[in-house]
Amino acid sequence: MMEQQKVVISQDLRQSLSQAIAECKYDHLFILVDETTAHCCLPVLESIFSPLNTPPSLITIGATDQHKTLDSLSHVWSELQCMGATRHSLMINLGGGMVTDLGGFAASTFKRGIPYINIPTTLLSMVDASVGGKTGINFGGLKNEIGVFNNANCVILDTTFLRTLDKANILSGYAEMLKHGLIDCEAHWAELLAHLEDLDNLENMETLEKLSSLVAKSVAVKQRIVTEDPTEKGLRKALNLGHTVGHAFESLALERKPILHGYAVAYGLVAELYLSCIKTGFPTDKMRQTVSFIKEHYGRMAITCDDYPRLLELMHHDKKNTGSAINFTLLAGIGDLRINQTATEDEIKEALDFYREF
Ligand SMILES: NC(=O)c1ccc[n+]([C@@H]2O[C@H](COP(=O)([O-])OP(=O)(O)OC[C@H]3O[C@@H](n4cnc5c(N)ncnc54)[C@H](O)[C@@H]3O)[C@@H](O)[C@H]2O)c1
Ligand SMILES: [Zn+2]
Repeated sequence: MMEQQKVVISQDLRQSLSQAIAECKYDHLFILVDETTAHCCLPVLESIFSPLNTPPSLITIGATDQHKTLDSLSHVWSELQCMGATRHSLMINLGGGMVTDLGGFAASTFKRGIPYINIPTTLLSMVDASVGGKTGINFGGLKNEIGVFNNANCVILDTTFLRTLDKANILSGYAEMLKHGLIDCEAHWAELLAHLEDLDNLENMETLEKLSSLVAKSVAVKQRIVTEDPTEKGLRKALNLGHTVGHAFESLALERKPILHGYAVAYGLVAELYLSCIKTGFPTDKMRQTVSFIKEHYGRMAITCDDYPRLLELMHHDKKNTGSAINFTLLAGIGDLRINQTATEDEIKEALDFYREF
């Protein structure tokens, strides 16, 4: 068991942030943003810090995963060094999962580690990336190849940041929430299926509050799992639901026309819920309801049976596999996990046939 990471569901960012930084005695404050969050999100923080005598120092890196590189990391380290960061400095990562992953790693390694606070600004980073202590960068063509496990001192979730986020990125995060709902319980799952349409207008306070409560539930599921298994020896594999097939779709899409991670997870869930039905007795009606929801909101990435060999090859290469079998996390029911499952190539092909027909 690891100490539970502090996560604050904020109703008032000024107050949550003041409290969080007051708990980390620091000599110098740094804020890491990417080129987009510098415009969309930073002004809110600046207004909070403007009364301070020493305003925080800003470090900016390029936006999107393409910049989750050693070059960007090196830039962050250099900036920290040039601007006089010490072992007692504090870093705030303000951005999506790219910024929280890279910033978390930069903070964890600078002078053997300085404290950091995550303020995630995408739905995906709120419910997934910013919690759980995984930090890192892409390297040598591989995602998240270099990194460490190290919790942020505090994670502050404020859904008002989502007002500027595009619908596709909202949906991408929502797919991870759906995964958490399936892992959790029937009531949580049903609530998620019922409330996506309501999220169209994030200017509406009621909508934001609803989203905030769904985010809180979702992040609680992830926290519960990572606290029991911080370094992915067992239970944390639950979080891989939808990801064995999902990662293969994501990599195949990268060879053609890239898709957002959450969309790949949604498609992966279709195939893996089918596998759950045939292998671990997941109820067919719940599978059909989930699949229709995904079809309606996420559409479909077109594949043919000619893609099966490549998809299977990608699944075999997934770093989460041990030995030659392809590993899955399946469900026997909503909230009823079966980790360390395997499926034969024929069963996987049958699941891909189902995906193509849904
Ligand atoms: N550490 C983990 O456990 C974990 C889990 C899941 C994903 N991840 C990582 O997270 C990353 C994906 O996260 P992501 O989807 O947040 O990607 P991202 O950080 O690249 O953000 C997506 C885009 O949205 C922009 N953006 C961010 N906040 C915005 C806002 N409020 N308004 C408008 N635009 C905004 C970003 O600048 C970027 O262009 C990947 O690198 C992935 O590996 C990590
Ligand atoms: Zn994911």
